[in-house]
Amino acid sequence: MGEVVLAAKVTHVPSILLSEREGPLKGKREGPIQSLKEIGSRARARGVQAYLIFDTHWLSNFGCHMNAKAHHRGVYTSHEAPHLIQDLTYDFPGAPDLGDLIAAEASKDGLEVLAHKVDSLPLEYGALVPMMYMNQDASAAVLPVAAPLFATVEENRLFGAAARRAIEASPYKVAVLASGSLSHKLVSNSQVGDNQWEQVGSPFNLQVDLHVLQLWREGRFAEFVAMLPEYSTKCNGEALMADTHMLFGLLGWDRYRGRAEQLCDYFASSGSGQVNVQFHL
Ligand SMILES: [Fe+2]
Repeated sequence: MGEVVLAAKVTHVPSILLSEREGPLKGKREGPIQSLKEIGSRARARGVQAYLIFDTHWLSNFGCHMNAKAHHRGVYTSHEAPHLIQDLTYDFPGAPDLGDLIAAEASKDGLEVLAHKVDSLPLEYGALVPMMYMNQDASAAVLPVAAPLFATVEENRLFGAAARRAIEASPYKVAVLASGSLSHKLVSNSQVGDNQWEQVGSPFNLQVDLHVLQLWREGRFAEFVAMLPEYSTKCNGEALMADTHMLFGLLGWDRYRGRAEQLCDYFASSGSGQVNVQFHL
């Protein structure tokens, strides 16, 4: 039988990549980088065969979509931020069978989910950046899920729960990643430059993010999911935090009783609040 071997909320910010080059960010993202690598090595140690990634940089207007092609191969430049992510070569196996199983399970809850096998459908950087650090040897398959912008929180929760059931009925060991920020009020154009990296976009967002991390540390998940719909909108959620809705749906929502392990310091990037947290199952 299959299993969710690991679940985590992870960062994917381009400043991680920039910190590995000469410039003002050089060396300033070691914590996030090392913790992404640590999550990858934990998943590998548990025999991970595929990463299911809720990707807040793949936005869908209609329905729910997975990129379930057999192989992800290409050269990526971000259409949103071509000056930050440019010409990244990638080559990862895909997970078409797992995509079909999740789509079939989700349809039982009335969700229309398409598991695409379209050669020209690329990876986006919410999947690509974590995979570059966690899955360097491309030993595990990659199955990205789009963030449906007009879905309800309940639809996203149901999708996460269906993904868990499908994984557990499948033959696969799967690590599940919610790839997105906490709060996400990005800097304005006038603030773009060498100083854009180190401050959260509003004092309100900063305080709510810190409170959320405290709730997670203290295992107060029922309180967290009760505030999640408002947190998603009032703190400018990245793709309205669809990734977090799906992750908590998969974990069991208010019935989740695991332990949240924060693996790096909370940090700001271009106004957003970022962290890597593993949710033990
Ligand atoms: Fe992002």
